[in-house]
Amino acid sequence: MKVLVTGGAGYIGSHVVKLLGEYGYEVLTYDNLSTGHKWAVLYGKLVVDDLADRNKLKKIFEEFRPDAVMHFAAYIVVPESVREPLKYYINNVVNTINLLEVMEEFRVNKFIFSSSAAVYGIPEKIPVPESARLNPINPYGGTKATVERILRDLSNSGKNFRYVSLRYFNVAGADPEGKIGFAYPNPTHLIIRAVKTAKGEFERLYIYGTDYPTPDGTCIRDYIHVADLASAHIVALEYLLEGGRSDVFNCGYGHGYSVREVIEATKKVTGKDFKVIEAPRRKGDPPVLVADNKKIREKLGWEPKYDDLEFIIKTAWNWEMKQKW
Ligand code: UFG
Repeated sequence: MKVLVTGGAGYIGSHVVKLLGEYGYEVLTYDNLSTGHKWAVLYGKLVVDDLADRNKLKKIFEEFRPDAVMHFAAYIVVPESVREPLKYYINNVVNTINLLEVMEEFRVNKFIFSSSAAVYGIPEKIPVPESARLNPINPYGGTKATVERILRDLSNSGKNFRYVSLRYFNVAGADPEGKIGFAYPNPTHLIIRAVKTAKGEFERLYIYGTDYPTPDGTCIRDYIHVADLASAHIVALEYLLEGGRSDVFNCGYGHGYSVREVIEATKKVTGKDFKVIEAPRRKGDPPVLVADNKKIREKLGWEPKYDDLEFIIKTAWNWEMKQKW
């Protein structure tokens, strides 16, 4: 079975490419390397090009003839999306349309989409089920919700197109074997900031908001290990290959940790103390974001292996310690 992976040189994509390779799938990564890295692609061929280049895409489809497509390539920084919405809609929506059109032309009808918990905005119910109303509060979430809408319409068009959309919660950690991990400049995510602060790369870690309606006043998130997220893609692919119908699934563990809990766990795992500053709230942060993951467990038989905050931090730390800075 052949799988075309866009964004396969990026953080999440590269972990999925690794697992696909280990499962014996033939993989082709299509990535413009804007944030990805050649070294991160551990299996299959890497084609360095952009999704905006439809002719190049067609050529790749003609040569590789994929059975399915996994689509990771996207911009992901929420505050940047607020400042540059068109940049986000063009890359995340227009380029996805390019890809879907080429898929249609080559009669490739199985698609796995990297969606986000950002589609929910501030959910009314926690843990949030997939049936919750989509109400993104930033352009990044808007792009993901827009693509989900397009996929639903395409799937209902009678063209035999089938997709699985995976709504990621807070993805963290690195390959347990230490071969790949997070490698973007200027990271903003909590666990990566915390381990980099423990390492000494940053002088202090800021807590954005201590007056939230949570037990310790800081935001709660559902942190999922990137290797478990990768295995969710494998079960989703198997489901589509076996004829499963289009569907949407949350990817999280179903419970969360506060910012303070993450900081304490980071200090414990790394054995390093570091300066923590309480700062005002960051714009657009929902107080609590936790997945209801019953659907993916029951329908796709997904079984996470690394539901352990300290293990998540440990793999991120081990990876970070191997990096030069
Ligand atoms: N935080 C800090 N200090 C930091 C970094 C983060 O206190 O240095 C806090 C944030 O304010 C937030 C929590 O830690 O309360 C988690 O923040 P992250 O930036 O790690 O992650 P987000 O929850 O903001 O973002 C994630 C995904 C996005 C997605 C979003 C949906 O990374 O892609 O969830 O809300 F859009």
